[in-house]
Amino acid sequence: MAKIESPRELFVHKLGAALTMEETILRMLEEIAEKAKDPQLKQNLRQHLRETQQQVHNLERAFAALGVEPESQPTATIEGLEREGEQNLKDVDDSLNDAVILAGVIETEAHEIAVYDVLITHAEGMGEEDIVALFQENLEQEQATLKKARDATKKLAQRVGQPV
Ligand SMILES: [Fe+2]
Repeated sequence: MAKIESPRELFVHKLGAALTMEETILRMLEEIAEKAKDPQLKQNLRQHLRETQQQVHNLERAFAALGVEPESQPTATIEGLEREGEQNLKDVDDSLNDAVILAGVIETEAHEIAVYDVLITHAEGMGEEDIVALFQENLEQEQATLKKARDATKKLAQRVGQPV
């Protein structure tokens, strides 16, 4: 593969990695929404699944704004998060599945927030205001999801901490 030589090409490359990330997360959300026990958690995961479909669409719109075809790029971080989450689910008793799922959500959202931070900052530098607006939308959804997962983790930890 030819080396990336311009910041714009690098941005397109990063867009491709973000596309792979969101597509992987779509798959992960489907799986964990099935496995989650708490009805509120299930509902939150399904809501974020719908948001993630919109996020994929926003990424495709960003490609279109730059006049390039959407092209996925491999990204190791999300593969690692997926593998670790699957392993953790195997490691724990079923009663802790929701806690494992929430930990995975927090770690994944933190990563996604960093990815959109890079894309937004880069797009600002390029003067691509439409792309900045698209990714602000994605970023706000990730932040809201992170906050919900934190709140649910605290509640669950309090409950788990109670003597039976
Ligand atoms: Fe996302």
